[in-house]
Amino acid sequence: MRTRPLKVALLGCGVVGSEVARIMTTHADDLAARIGAPVELAGVAVRRPSRVREGIDPSLVTTDATALVKRGDIDVVVEVIGGIEPARTLITTAFEHGASVVSANKALLAQDGAALHAAAEQHGRDLYYEAAVAGAIPLIRPLRESLAGDKVNRVLGIVNGTTNFILDKMDSTGAGYQEALDEATALGYAEADPTADVEGFDAAAKAAILAGIAFHSRVRLDDVYREGMTEVTASDFASAKNMGCTIKLLAICERAGDGGSVTARVHPAMIPLTHPLASVRGAYNAVFVESDASGQLMFYGPGAGGAPTASAVLGDLVAVCRNRLSGATGPGESAYAALPVSGMGDVVTRYHISLDVADKPGVLAQVATVFAEHGVSIDTVRQQGRPEGDGEASLVVVTHRASDASLSGTVEALRKLDTVRGVASIMRVEGE
Ligand SMILES: NC(=O)c1ccc[n+]([C@@H]2O[C@H](COP(=O)([O-])OP(=O)(O)OC[C@H]3O[C@@H](n4cnc5c(N)ncnc54)[C@H](OP(=O)(O)O)[C@@H]3O)[C@@H](O)[C@H]2O)c1
Repeated sequence: MRTRPLKVALLGCGVVGSEVARIMTTHADDLAARIGAPVELAGVAVRRPSRVREGIDPSLVTTDATALVKRGDIDVVVEVIGGIEPARTLITTAFEHGASVVSANKALLAQDGAALHAAAEQHGRDLYYEAAVAGAIPLIRPLRESLAGDKVNRVLGIVNGTTNFILDKMDSTGAGYQEALDEATALGYAEADPTADVEGFDAAAKAAILAGIAFHSRVRLDDVYREGMTEVTASDFASAKNMGCTIKLLAICERAGDGGSVTARVHPAMIPLTHPLASVRGAYNAVFVESDASGQLMFYGPGAGGAPTASAVLGDLVAVCRNRLSGATGPGESAYAALPVSGMGDVVTRYHISLDVADKPGVLAQVATVFAEHGVSIDTVRQQGRPEGDGEASLVVVTHRASDASLSGTVEALRKLDTVRGVASIMRVEGE
């Protein structure tokens, strides 16, 4: 074993970074044996230097992250600050000064992954980011390496623990969205500002990263269709139950049409209770990968948290250090297929639509005609009079597979009917 240590600069020492530092210390001997050289924490960049950081030598702590990555003797920079800047500049500066980079930064990778990969390649360095998608769950490496000989057709998963916790609570207790969010906040599963999670931004960033790797194409955050889950109601869950389904916030990346393009989307969807994703409870994540030769694979585990995320970071650190010692680099960006990203209109799926309609004869036929005119075939219809006898009824229509464009046209036309008082909810039905 080489005795000269590989030097690691840790940028950020918060939820994830503090666990990375802890594991680097407590597992130092095992890491050295696995890598073939010891790894040494050479510096820790933070924003608030006076904060007590257990297990961290205070002399290593600095607020000057730029000086740390420019030192010239750093082998690997671990970026766990988050956000776009200064993380992006620090990562490119690290490459320029000879370091490889491990990052957990989904927002940055989804926005600027191509440029960062190009910078890594230009300087002959590694860029690894297993922790950026679904915490501890190995996904990037299986897609980049284990499935490199297969053809992935679809990636479908729950990649945000906060929203899964909220939806699971709503499902199991009948709670409304706000009540379930309050509980998630009280238990530390949701941040004080939960926007990134509940509006689907976090899941969309992960979908962009997964789609790019799975389909060997460039997919950016802006390419991902996104709907949050704040509008999901207890009554949507009741409808889902009637259909033998539950509701999950899903990230779905798939080949579109004849396979000449891809789509990436994040939205709440009904999935059958028999689907393995339906049984993913609490804050857990799970991702289904469908490919030509392997068939269906499912990856399951904790998608966030300091230690689970640090596990993925450490796995990358070991890989990058090994590459460093052998003078090689690992897989870089693979975007040779260059498939365009189609809009949501090209997505084909099933739909569950709840309408408030006039409770009088002929309405059902009128509604059915609108669906037929737009080429959307109806699977089932259920009409319920309301107990209060207000002259309205609820009509629940479940369609066969249709394009999102056809469904949008149908809904637009339905809204124009005098007998349709309102479109109470539209939800896609996936996983069948
Ligand atoms: N938390 C998770 O479960 C999880 C899961 C998967 C991926 N990630 C990703 O991991 C990254 C880190 O997340 P986190 O939860 O650990 O964040 P965090 O707890 O907020 O920690 C951020 C760290 O960065 C430091 N920092 C902020 N601005 C800085 C600057 N300008 N220069 C130097 N240091 C700076 C902070 O310093 P102070 O300590 O002085 O404030 C803090 O130590 C993010 O990209 C996140 O998306 C997190």
